Amino acid sequence: MATQEIDLTVYPDECDAFGHLNQASFLALFERARWEMLARGPGMDIFSRNGAWPAVRKATVDYSAPAYPGDVLRFHQALTHHGRTSFTVRQTARRVRDDALIATAEFVFVCVNREGKPTPVPADFGEFMNARSTPREGATRITVNGVNLAVNVEGEGSTVLFIHGYPLDRTIWEPQVAGLDRWRRIAPDLRGMGLSDAPDLGYSMATYAADLAALLDAFGADRAVLCGLSMGGYIAFEFLRRWRERVAGLILVDTRAEADSAEGKRLRDEAAALAREGGAAAIAETMLPNMLAGSASAELVQRVRAIMTAAPVAGIVGALGAMRDRPDSVGMLASLTALPTLIMVGAEDRLTPPARASAMASAIPDARMIVVAGAAHLPTLEQPTVVTDSVRAFLEGLEAW
Ligand code: MLT
Repeated sequence: MATQEIDLTVYPDECDAFGHLNQASFLALFERARWEMLARGPGMDIFSRNGAWPAVRKATVDYSAPAYPGDVLRFHQALTHHGRTSFTVRQTARRVRDDALIATAEFVFVCVNREGKPTPVPADFGEFMNARSTPREGATRITVNGVNLAVNVEGEGSTVLFIHGYPLDRTIWEPQVAGLDRWRRIAPDLRGMGLSDAPDLGYSMATYAADLAALLDAFGADRAVLCGLSMGGYIAFEFLRRWRERVAGLILVDTRAEADSAEGKRLRDEAAALAREGGAAAIAETMLPNMLAGSASAELVQRVRAIMTAAPVAGIVGALGAMRDRPDSVGMLASLTALPTLIMVGAEDRLTPPARASAMASAIPDARMIVVAGAAHLPTLEQPTVVTDSVRAFLEGLEAW
């Protein structure tokens, strides 16, 4: 478990006459989780050894559901603002058993010295919370737009940004990140997916794209080749709409340019209700049959199931709303002149079938298309060598960017 996540059990003496966790005790648990996080990380004395003390200036709590004695709550801590003398920590408490959101809190702190005067936030506290270059479970942590993202960053040179689909994570690009060693590969978990923070609100194609632009800024990359799979393709289109000049090339894998139909939008809402009721596992079971070709090994099925089952419900619901409301991108395809584009699609993909891919390939001026045999919606994992080799050949054909 990440250090920024702390599990605490609700005790009977913290509950009121109705058996609910009392709101005042809840504040104490939020505080306990923050101190515990420091105890397991840089030390509880991180402030005092820097001559600073964090005083709470403002506390906001949203209580979403009751918690009872014996419930184990997972507290997640994220630094959402880091000023010179003040900082903000956003905490969520979810019940471990069913991932239900119990409460969300935001605490604004100001650091003061012994005289009670504002004093700088200790640099090592910011470093710990952002853990920007600390590998954790194979990922670097970085905060952009107030959300802490898990990111794989490998290699040097021109940047390729890998954008995963729904409800997946950065590991669907593992073979490509491992195999394309001539370029710098950046593969984030989008907000709400994988190991990244999953705020309850704030999901749209525009937000995902803005997160990625901020991520590129943070790594000093003016331009990148965007490589998006399915929802990752929708995000790539949004990125192009906003920052066309930053895109050196485009790789679209099992995606489409059309917005959702009215029926598609209705199905998104149905899926969101299912996620709220049955959790990520229920979504995984409905999606799995369409993700992989019939020839997929049991190990691969299990791997993809595990990725989907681990997706936070808030991120699933957020992504569904973002996809439902995304604009149509068909109209912009013809304007993508002088943008080298590679389109790949699994021959057996039923979610975004080859016919959609070839419609995009005909509409984008400088596009070529590859149909990947023996793959459905996840060719990056189903036929990793074919995909990695095709991407490599495409990147080799580009001028350095
Ligand atoms: C994805 O893989 O990202 C989704 O299948 C996209 C979608 O549901 O439209």
